[in-house]
Amino acid sequence: MEKLNITGGNPLFGEIAVCGAKNAAVAIIPAALLVNGVCIIENVPDIKDVRLIIEMLVQLGARVTYINDTTISVDSTRLKTHIAPVELASKMRASYYLLGALLGRLNKAQVALPGGCNFGVRPIDLHEKGFRALGATVEITDGIVYVNADHLTGDNVFLDTTSVGATINIMLAAVLADGKTVIENAAKEPHIVDVANFLNAMGAKVRGAGTDVIRITGVKEMTGGSYSIIPDQIEAGTFMLLAAASGGDVLVRNIIPKHMDCLVSKLEEMGVNITEYDDSIRISRTGELRGTSVRTMPYPGFPTDLQPQMVALLSTVKGRSTVIEDVWDNRFQYVAELLKMDADITVNGKRAEIQGKKLRGALVQATDLRAGAAMIIAGVAAEGVTQIGCPHYIDRGYTDIERRLRSIGVKIERVFEED
Ligand code: EPU
Repeated sequence: MEKLNITGGNPLFGEIAVCGAKNAAVAIIPAALLVNGVCIIENVPDIKDVRLIIEMLVQLGARVTYINDTTISVDSTRLKTHIAPVELASKMRASYYLLGALLGRLNKAQVALPGGCNFGVRPIDLHEKGFRALGATVEITDGIVYVNADHLTGDNVFLDTTSVGATINIMLAAVLADGKTVIENAAKEPHIVDVANFLNAMGAKVRGAGTDVIRITGVKEMTGGSYSIIPDQIEAGTFMLLAAASGGDVLVRNIIPKHMDCLVSKLEEMGVNITEYDDSIRISRTGELRGTSVRTMPYPGFPTDLQPQMVALLSTVKGRSTVIEDVWDNRFQYVAELLKMDADITVNGKRAEIQGKKLRGALVQATDLRAGAAMIIAGVAAEGVTQIGCPHYIDRGYTDIERRLRSIGVKIERVFEED
């Protein structure tokens, strides 16, 4: 069995750079299927989910070549099938972007229902609504989604719930459709803007990304170009929360500070010292921190993907805190793991009440990607040794995590033990 062992209780010092955004990369790489030519994509994070999506593109007939550690070339000139490999597709959430991309390029797609982290029901009805509005049929049989169209024509789509995945998938399906598509109540996350910028760099006409109305004018063909993925807002936030939990003085580099506004304001409210530079943020802590209240929301609100890491920090600071999860129905499963470290947290539906205290190291599990990041934060703040099982979840979204954390002083090692 593989584990990450962390010895906690030491302040952290130094600099750590943020990699390219996972949730942008897992959409931009499939988006390259729309391009009848070569896309050069830079700042690609070296994580498991990216390797999986690249493998799926290769099996669909795209030629993917690594130019260096973080730059790939994708040539989708000669796709050979619209059927995504079932086993790979069912392993990750973002495989649903193959639906929009293949539908847009080939007018048909066949992709297994997506897997990924389990936060309760994760429907794709809004993706379906968008594809149907553009003229496609959608059928789901035995866990496989089939989408087909004779012809795609732009239309208006109103998203009943703000959905990142549906917003991106409808953009992908619409860029080569005839006429205009308007997505209303669109999600505004930084990676929505990044995907739109990528599509435009390849020849598409997408306007309004980053607002709640996105307008797409279909083009006949996209022919290729170069694009660099934005830094990962969630990885940046994870490192900031880690530095706040450990104390010390850490410079988090390669950040877009605007993306961090909501987190910065919360951390300042708690007593963390923050200095923003053009593309980095310094976090230091001199005194004790105070508890606070947090409610997750779509961007620019507090990101649900930083909720577990925030709860880990709040478990260690003085006073009471409240965290309300308003995006997912069931994203507090990992709390059971923090309780093993002596945390004082009571969960009632979508609400967690936290009484901060000193945590102590324990054997815990990474129950999903961000839950795993939360265990690292708790482990660094705790006294003694924390052993984190199932670190493969963490590897889905964080590049070379132990080497990078060691560079700021985290005492972390990966161990392999016989079962
Ligand atoms: N929803 C629907 N119908 C749909 C789609 C979504 O009702 O057709 C609901 C969901 O049930 C949820 C809400 O809308 O309550 C938001 O879901 P969204 O579609 O925005 O989530 P997603 O696209 O499946 C992405 C990220 C998640 C992140 C969410 C919210 C990717 C690959 N995943 O998921 O990231 O939590 O947006 O910001 O981009 C992670 O990185 O750890 C992660 C889980």
